[in-house]
Amino acid sequence: MQINVTRKEKEQELLQNAKVVWLTGLSGSGKTTNAVHLERLLMSAGYLAKIIDGDDVRTGLNKDLGFSIEDRTENIRRVAEVSKMFVENGTIVISCFVSPTEEIRKLAKSIIGEDDFIEVFINAPISVCEKRDVKGLYQKARTGEIKEFTGINSPFEPPSNPHLVINTDSDGVEETSRAIFNFISNKISFY
Ligand code: ADX
Repeated sequence: MQINVTRKEKEQELLQNAKVVWLTGLSGSGKTTNAVHLERLLMSAGYLAKIIDGDDVRTGLNKDLGFSIEDRTENIRRVAEVSKMFVENGTIVISCFVSPTEEIRKLAKSIIGEDDFIEVFINAPISVCEKRDVKGLYQKARTGEIKEFTGINSPFEPPSNPHLVINTDSDGVEETSRAIFNFISNKISFY
C-alpha cells in the first residue's frame, strides 16, 4: 500500500478541486470583505477554504517585512509558498494581497502554478478607496506619516489579464462575492 497521502486523495475526501483564488487590488478596494463572504458561500456549498490575508500575515509570519519593493516581493514569495502548501493539502485558498505589480503577481503565479492560480482583480478607483479609508491609512499616507503607500506614493499596476474583474464601487458585496463564487464553481467542482 502506498503510504503517503496524495493531494488527489485529499481532494477526493473533501469532494473539491483545490485552487488559489488570488485577490489583488488597492488597500480598501474590498479584498477582505469579499474573501469573508466568499468563504461563507463556499462553506454553505460544502467546500473547505482558507483565507490568507495581508493584514494578518503582516502582524505574524511576515512582521519583519516593510513596504519597499524588495520586502513586498519577499512578502508575496512567502505567502505564495504558504498558499501552495494549502492547495497541496486539498484546500481552496483565498489570498488577499495588494500585490501591486505585474512582476509580483507573476512571481505568485509561478510559485503556485498556473493551473491552480485564479487571479481576481478587486477593482475600485483610488478616489473611492481613499474616501472609504477604512483603516485611516490614506490620510496617514497623505500627511506623510506612512511612506510608500500603494496608490499614493507607491505604484499599483492594474492586472493586464486577470481571470475576473470585480467592481466594488458599483456593485455590493453580496453580488460581487456571488460573482466570484459562480466564476470559480466549475473549477473547484469535483464532479
Ligand atoms: S503587498 O503590497 O505586500 O501585497 P499586503 O497586501 O501584504 O501588501 O498589505 C497591504 C495592507 O497593509 C493594506 O491593506 C494596508 O492595510 C496595509 N498597509 C500598511 N502600509 C501600507 C503601504 N505602505 N502600502 C500598502 N498597504 C499598506
